[in-house]
Amino acid sequence: MADVYDRHYAHDRGRVYYDHICDMALEDLPRDGRLLDLGCGTGLFMTRYLASGGTAAGLDISRGMIARARQRCNGCEVAVGTAEQIPYRDGTFDAVASILAFSYLQKPEAMLRESFRVLKPGGTIAVCTLGRNLLTALVPVIYRIGEKVHIRRIGMADFGEHYYRDGEIAALFAAIGFEDIRVRRCSFAHRDLHDPVFSLARKVEPFVEERIPQLAYNICVSAKKPD
Ligand SMILES: C[S@@+](CC[C@H](N)C(=O)[O-])C[C@H]1O[C@@H](n2cnc3c(N)ncnc32)[C@H](O)[C@@H]1O
Repeated sequence: MADVYDRHYAHDRGRVYYDHICDMALEDLPRDGRLLDLGCGTGLFMTRYLASGGTAAGLDISRGMIARARQRCNGCEVAVGTAEQIPYRDGTFDAVASILAFSYLQKPEAMLRESFRVLKPGGTIAVCTLGRNLLTALVPVIYRIGEKVHIRRIGMADFGEHYYRDGEIAALFAAIGFEDIRVRRCSFAHRDLHDPVFSLARKVEPFVEERIPQLAYNICVSAKKPD
């Protein structure tokens, strides 16, 4: 998937869509700290974090993704592994991020518990993932119908991803002991929309996120490990 993934997010609408999610995550993270990116994929977020002045390490379950991340992020420590069992000592990082990966985890509680462990006291976590709303609630149904009638799949593929409600994801963070939990909705313009609909959706995106967040389909959560 590494090639497909980079093609989706490196150019044009995909890049605009992806940058917007990254900007929201970066807003809540310390700029010059040591970051761990869980489910780092091809390293797209780590390069943005490096540009903001910090250092970054990445972990991903896919060898192909990690090979690409290694090429892209010269100087980053990257490794194959699961976010549910992090191979670092307690209190190693100032920040943990996970961009569009949390929804694919089979044990999200384990990822949060491990993130809490490897964060320094006062460290910050930012997770952006798929949110549940009226439209995304229909995605699994559409996948199933698409497979039955043999039409092209929607998006890249069906990975059995989970779409989170605001309260549901906040409760997961709170149960681990995180504090200052902030949940925001993100993204109204999707890269699969064609122009001029994409441009129009981008224009109204700030209004949607602020005033009608139930129409935005990604969810960004940030929180702190207590001092
Ligand atoms: C949609 S991609 C996002 C990649 C990257 N975070 C980005 O923003 O470009 C989801 C990533 O999560 C990774 N992933 C899925 N389950 C994982 C797990 N249990 N531990 C670590 N990575 C995982 C996948 O291999 C994939 O690279």
